Amino acid sequence: MTKKKKTAAEETDLDKFTLELQKQIMEQIRKRYSETAIDHWQNPRNFRKIENPDGYAKVKGPCGDTMEMFLKIDKENISECGFQTDGCGTTIVCGSVSTELTLNNSFTQALALVSADEILKELGGLPESDVHCAQLAAETLRRALADYLYKKKSPWKKHYNRT
Ligand code: FES
Repeated sequence: MTKKKKTAAEETDLDKFTLELQKQIMEQIRKRYSETAIDHWQNPRNFRKIENPDGYAKVKGPCGDTMEMFLKIDKENISECGFQTDGCGTTIVCGSVSTELTLNNSFTQALALVSADEILKELGGLPESDVHCAQLAAETLRRALADYLYKKKSPWKKHYNRT
């Protein structure tokens, strides 16, 4: 069967329909999420794996999504912070915000600063169904910080890192 080529008028109609659909979807998203959240969703920060991290954690959330956090710590300062996730858009948003909150802070500042509440505050809140995404990001970061302390106490353990 040969495929019928679309006429210019049909292509224009399809383009219009696609644009209208995208506009409607964005309007729905804007009703639920802040501009900050949309910005992190469209341009995630520090979405990357860091080789040979000083602190690392991988956590599975209650929904089954996982997040990984990678930290490089230089003289007790967090010089690099990356994350990866197989989760939804909101998980990416929360991971992205948590890395920004963490970077260039001391270890103790980061520990005190990064919580699900702080992530939610930064995002101007999230729909109730997405709050667990912020909890997953905060918990993964907290465990990556704890991993740093654990390796610091026993430096040889760094060589057993499974990342
Ligand atoms: S939906 Fe599971 S962490 Fe976002």
